[in-house]
Amino acid sequence: MSSDQRFFDFLKARIGLDVTSVGPAIIERAVRQRTTAQQVETADQYWQRLQVSADEQQALIEAVIVPETWFFRYPESFATLAKLANKRLAELHNMRALRILSLPCSTGEEPYSIAMALLDAGLAPHQFKVEGLDVSPLSVERAKRARYGKNSFRGQQIDFRDRHFSTEADGYQLDQRVREQVRLQVGNLLDPTLLANEPPYDFVFCRNLLIYFDQPTQQQVFEVLKRLTHVDGVLFIGPAEGSLLGRLGMRSIGIPQSFAFSRHSDPQPEPLPAFIPPPLPVSAPARRMSAPTPRGRPFASTAPARVEKAPASDAAQLLANIAALANAGKSLEARAACETYLRQHAPVAQVFYWLGLLSDVAGSAVEAQGFYRKALYLEPQHPEALMHLAALLASQGDEAGARRLQERAARNERTADSERKR
Ligand SMILES: C[S@@+](CC[C@H](N)C(=O)[O-])C[C@H]1O[C@@H](n2cnc3c(N)ncnc32)[C@H](O)[C@@H]1O
Repeated sequence: MSSDQRFFDFLKARIGLDVTSVGPAIIERAVRQRTTAQQVETADQYWQRLQVSADEQQALIEAVIVPETWFFRYPESFATLAKLANKRLAELHNMRALRILSLPCSTGEEPYSIAMALLDAGLAPHQFKVEGLDVSPLSVERAKRARYGKNSFRGQQIDFRDRHFSTEADGYQLDQRVREQVRLQVGNLLDPTLLANEPPYDFVFCRNLLIYFDQPTQQQVFEVLKRLTHVDGVLFIGPAEGSLLGRLGMRSIGIPQSFAFSRHSDPQPEPLPAFIPPPLPVSAPARRMSAPTPRGRPFASTAPARVEKAPASDAAQLLANIAALANAGKSLEARAACETYLRQHAPVAQVFYWLGLLSDVAGSAVEAQGFYRKALYLEPQHPEALMHLAALLASQGDEAGARRLQERAARNERTADSERKR
């Protein structure tokens, strides 16, 4: 076993992090950082230190987690929550407050967005409570401080900032009225006793965490999420995580861009994005146009038989459609088309590549990286995913990681060249 593998296994066991989802470079860098901070010379010495120090274990976890988040990320999901919350309160005859969970909550932007959305929708403070949990004590501390810089406010619609924050010299301080709606604590989604004595939640947000887990961990975590979500409740997930939930028996509630799923087994019709597929562009590369052959590696192998696949020609048509929309700069529609594809077909690299590119263009580097890695997981030689991920890593200062990917792309080119000459 290489020394790195020990660290990969440690992080997998402690927080579920799958090395293939973030790439080894991020973990290796974190180990190097911590080795230096602990003033030891070798990975072996650091490994020994890690074994005996709970604080150091937490420090390594802090060094690898991806706390990237911002207010009202995927705005449609908060609009959907507001509508559903009013409906749920009526169902409950206002007999109790709504229970809402944000896990992972990172530095607090997500649970506070939930609270702001519900207050703005006219709910009274006593009608709902939000709980935010994250494995990172540092992030939870920052969430409790509720003071934010510009990076937490992205996109065009930031009028909520005027309503709920006061401007301070070093950022924006969230109002007490919103903070009081949210309880924050440290918690690990992999902990079997997590929230064990809590009644289930009406709404659960678990976004942008499942993408960092391998399939068995995703399944394990999914059981936890099912336990935490009320039988009449709704689970909100990240855009790249919908295909997984569909396969595990949850159903989209049918509101585009909200990434919301219910536990009810009767499927709701999923509205298709409002666009008409254009004719197939003749100039597009054959690889994109042909109906893709799903690789068995990440998700497809255990898909239950009842997941029905749409015909292959639809897959080719949808892929062409995604390309056309993305190339026309219609990012939202292109994303929606990617989601539709992943719900209806086995996952393919090209769709994750497009999601990566769309995130990249929108300035979400971490999210883009996740999608590019998924593309490469499915198709290790996908040339565009290799090149874009290399560029992204280089821009983040990971020169070695970028070089490895470029070399991999160049090797693929050479192999393709020599095959063409034969
Ligand atoms: C990319 S953030 C997502 C934050 C927010 N849900 C969002 O979508 O904007 C991922 C968070 O997952 C947390 N995390 C990683 N592993 C975890 C685990 N096993 N249990 C709970 N939180 C975890 C990290 O600390 C990090 O804050």
